[in-house]
Amino acid sequence: MNHDLDTVRSVATRVAPRAIELRRAIHRRPELGRQEFATTQLVVRALAGAGIESQVRSVGTGLTAEVGTGGSLVGFRADLDALPIHEQTGLSFASELPGLMHACGHDAHTAIAVGIALALKELGPLAGRVRFIFQPAEELFPGGADELLGEGAIDGVQAIIAFHVDPILPPGQIGFKTGPITSSSDRFLITVDGPGGHTARPHDSIDTIFAAGQIITQLPAILDRLVDARLPLSLVFGRVQGGIAGNVIPASVELSGTCRSLDRETWERMPKLVERLVHEIVAPLGAVATVNYEVGIPPVINDQFVVAEVEYAVSSVLGTHAVALTHASLGAEDFSYFLQEIPGALFRLGAQLPDRKTDLHSAWFDIDEAAIETGIVAGTTAMLRLMACDW
Ligand code: NI
Repeated sequence: MNHDLDTVRSVATRVAPRAIELRRAIHRRPELGRQEFATTQLVVRALAGAGIESQVRSVGTGLTAEVGTGGSLVGFRADLDALPIHEQTGLSFASELPGLMHACGHDAHTAIAVGIALALKELGPLAGRVRFIFQPAEELFPGGADELLGEGAIDGVQAIIAFHVDPILPPGQIGFKTGPITSSSDRFLITVDGPGGHTARPHDSIDTIFAAGQIITQLPAILDRLVDARLPLSLVFGRVQGGIAGNVIPASVELSGTCRSLDRETWERMPKLVERLVHEIVAPLGAVATVNYEVGIPPVINDQFVVAEVEYAVSSVLGTHAVALTHASLGAEDFSYFLQEIPGALFRLGAQLPDRKTDLHSAWFDIDEAAIETGIVAGTTAMLRLMACDW
């Protein structure tokens, strides 16, 4: 790195209050996925204030912006969207829009990305360029990452990173993990059909409820024996629907749920495997099963080299106490689409509140805003380091 760390730290710290102000402005006016028009404009204005030009997508939500010139090109990704949750925090800057809330920290991610851009601009000239990607619709399926990829948002980018706030990691710490850090997420709908009939005579009909029960218990159990136990897989049913009366065998039963994996190959194997097993489980009963398996989001697999470089950068600027180990989550994150194309990594940013516990997607969710300064200091140093790497 050709900037001394004290300068990086002081510049990054100096822009932090502006980023916190931006986070609060975004927090007050949350927008759902693909509707982040005002949020996009807030980012455009914050960047323009520092002389950074942005490229807003033609649809008006989401943007990219670059800082630096020449050399290598690395990326930083933030997400813009909020959730359909009615905020209960009572914060002075709580959502002014009933039923909408930034309950996943995307307001902070966006503010941190702007903060890093401002810090890098002030630190320039740089050894390369950083492209900031502000994506819409992370919470939706299909999400915004896939669309941005199709529009060339990461064309030429050699490596990319992102932060996600972590409500159970103390502020000042960053969680690192090589390999899988978030899971794939697929959805499925299974329908079991038969002629229906009287519960007195299942032998004259097809017991669709019993067949559905076989699927519920046997499908996860058989998958356990067919998939390497070292590669976590989770198939869980969330909805079972069938029947209207205790003495009537229904003609149709519906089961739906999600299937998640931390391994790309296992994830790719699932659609065919689930379909085959469902048919085989109900075959002895004569029931007809239809499997509608919807392939969703891939797992986020962190690149070992990127993790090592960012860990080095973070420990040099914030000290080794800032480096924490983190676990993989079975939640999904569409940042994975970018990592299918180029090396990169997602890091957890400690944002735990001092006085109470919260969870992501809760109406009481909030972060310790000290995380924003940590994110800017760490992110700025990480981008300087990644720009200087030989890709
Ligand atoms: Ni999120």
